[in-house]
Amino acid sequence: MTELLRAEGVSVFYGASQILFGVDAALQEKCTLALLGRNGAGKSTTMKALAGIVPVRSGRIFFAGRDITHAPPHARAQLGMAYVPEDRQVFPEHSVEDNLLIAAKSGPGGRRDWTLPRIWETFPLLTRLRSRQAGRLSGGEQQLLVIARALMGNPLVLLLDEPSEGLAPIIVADISRVLRELGAGGATILLAEQNMHFCLRIAQEALVIDKGKVVHRESTTGLSGNDDIRRRYLAM
Ligand SMILES: Nc1ncnc2c1ncn2[C@@H]1O[C@H](COP(=O)(O)OP(=O)(O)OP(=O)(O)O)[C@@H](O)[C@H]1O
Ligand SMILES: [Mg+2]
Repeated sequence: MTELLRAEGVSVFYGASQILFGVDAALQEKCTLALLGRNGAGKSTTMKALAGIVPVRSGRIFFAGRDITHAPPHARAQLGMAYVPEDRQVFPEHSVEDNLLIAAKSGPGGRRDWTLPRIWETFPLLTRLRSRQAGRLSGGEQQLLVIARALMGNPLVLLLDEPSEGLAPIIVADISRVLRELGAGGATILLAEQNMHFCLRIAQEALVIDKGKVVHRESTTGLSGNDDIRRRYLAM
């Protein structure tokens, strides 16, 4: 297995307050890793540090064999990192199809695995909505759109911050199906979530983060039976 993304001892501060305390994480190629933790545990901050949105005070980040600790977000995107933040921002005035076309580019090494026809095949719901203004979609439909839009850049890795948060169960099921299919097709995904159940059938392994520290690492199957860790660190 090849390692694609690694955080080593990453610490992040917002002003004077320290938010991450030496976070270690490693993501293997073609695997889906869940980053689980309660509200305020540091999931989004970890994702932002990986994507280059917040600066790292100490520690290092490696991606596709390079040290990217101080690389700006656009350079990381160029290397094949697609970051989908929790706020699901679409271009509201543009159609679903235009939102996708705006993001179309070949990935590292000229990869063009993802094209519009393949997106329509993978996201049947979006096909039906292709002419709709993105600002008129439901939250769940927008979440599907931002995942599809990230794929249009043919990335090496997807960083998804809480894709299931606040969404109706029926659309969460659709997002789950898409992520399982992507994983089965060889995608590499880091999935930040509060909802462990959502991750169980998607991710093989989970990191649990609490108060800015990784406190546990286990297979998702193991974790689902680990009542102690779940009670201590997860909201269930
Ligand atoms: N811009 C900011 N300035 C100061 N503190 C912040 C900022 N953003 C987040 N924090 C704090 O950092 C800590 C970690 O927040 P973070 O957003 O990473 O948590 P999270 O695990 O993503 O939580 P959630 O499940 O609510 O999305 C929290 O205590 C939060 O209050
Ligand atoms: Mg968050």
